[in-house]
Amino acid sequence: MLRIDIISVLPKLIKSPFNASIIKRAIEKKIVEIHFHDLKDYASNKRKQVDDYQFGGGSGMVLMIEPIKNCIDLLKKDRVYKEIIYMTPDAKILNQKIANKLSIGGNLIILCGHYKGVDQRVRDKIITMEISIGDYVLSGGELPAAVLCDSIIRLIPGVLGDETSALSDSFQDGMIAPPVYTRPENFDNMSVPKILMSGNKGKIENWREEKAIERTKKIRPNFFD
Ligand code: ADE
Repeated sequence: MLRIDIISVLPKLIKSPFNASIIKRAIEKKIVEIHFHDLKDYASNKRKQVDDYQFGGGSGMVLMIEPIKNCIDLLKKDRVYKEIIYMTPDAKILNQKIANKLSIGGNLIILCGHYKGVDQRVRDKIITMEISIGDYVLSGGELPAAVLCDSIIRLIPGVLGDETSALSDSFQDGMIAPPVYTRPENFDNMSVPKILMSGNKGKIENWREEKAIERTKKIRPNFFD
């Protein structure tokens, strides 16, 4: 079973995506185990302080190394982790290849950033991998951590049924998926491509491939580089 430990100053913010649909079912089926840790519980001083002003001056608080190290050391005492991931916008951007790799790699710790960021010594000495979910800045790493977990968990065998197989997703084969249609066949003078109603599996497969290439050229021309 894959175990993911998420460390955050706002664990409340991240819990709800794990309580619905596919991810919830994966947890219930005991395919994945998610544990949330409130960084404040690992603070060393009485005030439960987890952040402080940055040395050298400047606006914004910085997450301190000590509570983070306390929490991660405790987790590492009980099991082995494949990666200790820090969610931050100034990192390599998440893609399907990274999600695939993390879905088969082993237990993960995910640290959510906040405020101005985290003491650089955490990034230098404790973190083994840094991930951004895109070139924009969010208020914290909680939503990015939920995005990362979803992208990983849905790939684990047994999480998705055949009917929603992850193999046919966009990006999985370096292509954007072809368009899909369902009933009704005609709606407001818009009809479904005839070929999909033909029952000819070979022709339908060829059509889907053509459309996938067409869409990829238009939306992600760099995939052909
Ligand atoms: N924290 C704030 N913004 C982020 C982003 N774009 N990706 C990952 N973590 C973040």
